[in-house]
Amino acid sequence: MAHEFTPNIFAGDGIILSLFQKEDVEPLHKIIHRNKSHLAAWLRAVGNPSTLKEVHQYVKDNQKRSRDALSESFRSHPGFELAIRNDGELVGMIGFQGIHWGNRLTALGYWIIPESEGRGIVTKACKAMVTYAFDTLHLNRIEIQCAEDNPASMGIPERLGFHKEAILAEVERRNEGYVSHYLYRMLRSDWQK
Ligand SMILES: CC(C)(COP(=O)(O)OP(=O)(O)OC[C@H]1O[C@@H](n2cnc3c(N)ncnc32)[C@H](O)[C@@H]1OP(=O)(O)O)[C@@H](O)C(=O)NCCC(=O)NCCS
Repeated sequence: MAHEFTPNIFAGDGIILSLFQKEDVEPLHKIIHRNKSHLAAWLRAVGNPSTLKEVHQYVKDNQKRSRDALSESFRSHPGFELAIRNDGELVGMIGFQGIHWGNRLTALGYWIIPESEGRGIVTKACKAMVTYAFDTLHLNRIEIQCAEDNPASMGIPERLGFHKEAILAEVERRNEGYVSHYLYRMLRSDWQK
């Protein structure tokens, strides 16, 4: 079954999740330059786009991934990311880090600019993505991995009632050392309750 991608996901209170467009390349480039260490994990995951040209390529690749992500002919897909816009301003990103259609599972990743932290924006964005994944994509399991030294990130799944399922020991290589992650999960049956 193919799904039609909904261009805008409304998360409430003026928060809209939508694909990055060409017009986002410059603001995204500025955000990256101002917040390199804040966004280090995400930047590593998407190949460290740094120049305007690389950010443009990232936006283009992400659009392409979003087009075929929702086709179940891909048993497993690398996923795609959506911009978080607050009252029209680009403030962050939330994405499906892989969609495994065979097992109907996905994982979520997110970041927001420091100026917009602590207002519940990512919690609301995450809640909207979980609802979209269960109700529109009919997935069954959603995972969130949070580094053991990132309590702000753990707050998101915990606020939304995710279950802390496991610790993934030394799963991330960082600064010549290893960092463990907590694995949180939400099942469709638990979300419905
Ligand atoms: C982790 C991160 C995404 C959290 O973003 P955030 O915007 O601060 O998170 P929220 O949107 O849920 O805000 C949470 C805080 O807002 C407060 N808040 C204010 N109004 C709120 C509302 N209406 N609803 C929910 N929370 C609200 C909460 O109480 C909470 O504060 P607390 O932690 O002191 O309890 C952000 O710090 C970030 O981008 N970090 C860098 C990148 C990163 O680490 N990404 C995660 C990798 S897995």
